Amino acid sequence: MVKKTLKTSAVLLALTMGLAACSGGQSESQTGQDSKNEEGKTSQSEKVKIVYARGQDSTKATEKIIEAFEKTHPNIDVEFREMPADTGKQHDAYVTMLNAQSSEIDVMDLDVIWPAEFAQAGYTLPLDRFIEKDGIDLSKYNQGALAAGNFNGKQWAMPKFIDTGMLFYRTDLVPEEKVPKTWDELLKTAKELKGKGGTKFGYLMQAKQYEGLVCNAVEFIASYGGKIVDENGNVVVNSPEAIKGLKKMVEIVQSDVVPSNVTTFMEPESHTAFIEGQSPFIRNWPYQYALANDQEQSKIVGKVGVAPLPAGDKGSAAALGGWMTAINKYSKHPKEAWEFVKFMTGPEGQKISAIYGGLAPTLPELFKDPDVLKANPFFAEEGFVNALNAAVPRPVVPNYPEISEIIQINVSKALAGELTVEQAVANMEKEMKAALNK
Ligand code: GLC
Repeated sequence: MVKKTLKTSAVLLALTMGLAACSGGQSESQTGQDSKNEEGKTSQSEKVKIVYARGQDSTKATEKIIEAFEKTHPNIDVEFREMPADTGKQHDAYVTMLNAQSSEIDVMDLDVIWPAEFAQAGYTLPLDRFIEKDGIDLSKYNQGALAAGNFNGKQWAMPKFIDTGMLFYRTDLVPEEKVPKTWDELLKTAKELKGKGGTKFGYLMQAKQYEGLVCNAVEFIASYGGKIVDENGNVVVNSPEAIKGLKKMVEIVQSDVVPSNVTTFMEPESHTAFIEGQSPFIRNWPYQYALANDQEQSKIVGKVGVAPLPAGDKGSAAALGGWMTAINKYSKHPKEAWEFVKFMTGPEGQKISAIYGGLAPTLPELFKDPDVLKANPFFAEEGFVNALNAAVPRPVVPNYPEISEIIQINVSKALAGELTVEQAVANMEKEMKAALNK
């Protein structure tokens, strides 16, 4: 685990600016004394450090958010704890820590698929009293994203950004009329372009056995009209539509347009190949745009277009992803932790995430913000807005990690040619039904 302390100068800042803390401050239990100054404000000596955990951030967003937060909250230092990039591994690292009731981290980002599980396990603090106290208007948030953090009538996490699968392409290699509308067109164009303009591959995606594989599979299945679990929680993966979708996925993964080791690719492997100029196309989440336009990292600045994912028989389908922010129930600094959560998931923090991280806000008003649109012109496009609105959630079930693993294992075997797609969906059906007692 890499530790990054991004802030060292807050004391100095507080001193030079002669500022008293505007919020937060160490509680009596940590100082053993009440050291409020005359105005009733906490003094500089009471600086509190909180630890904020999230997965690897390839963009500058996290750094910028912490900087801006510390500027306005001179009595709170935020240390960034980088967790694994693989969301499943990140999940397991949190579970290990929180099962041991560790107070090592205070604030953590949660994948949209976890809040209910974490709430049920008692890992996170309900945020309702903070929300009420600070008069946070929840109606301003995207209601679907908000709902992902709600469980048993309580809000356990605040929505930070929404993710949705998109197709990114090289505008210098792919003329507008050649941007593929279907998976078959993608295969054809990727074949034609592979090797042109310094590229090594035709298409990049995430096909390793991990959570991102589930997202890619959901997209293929849904674009052919299939589902894994229906609205009533019934397992419906063994259908002609799901089979068709997964067959297209197998065809692409086994083709020579993707890297021969694509089954080891997660987001970092695929986005790195893309920004190094190795492929005309990639399937990825919106952050890809900001990253591809980052002068310091990318060789393809200014040459990136965004389009909806290619369609199957039933149209284009994007998986719904995204992240929320929660407070560790065992945090020793819940008040300060909340200040950070409030800032990061509020308009100011989300604006920074959108500008520096290319992340799609959960506050719809920010889609009209000129600075946000300047950094991400595609946020204004119909295709993006539609993809966001129609994004397909992964199965919403209490024991999601178990279901995810069943999908990951069987889809991986189909991609490797160890199972036919028909066998893979039959296995998934049987195993998921057992896991869900259906
Ligand atoms: C992105 C999505 C998240 C998903 C993950 C899979 O981070 O936001 O929801 O689980 O990718 O790799």
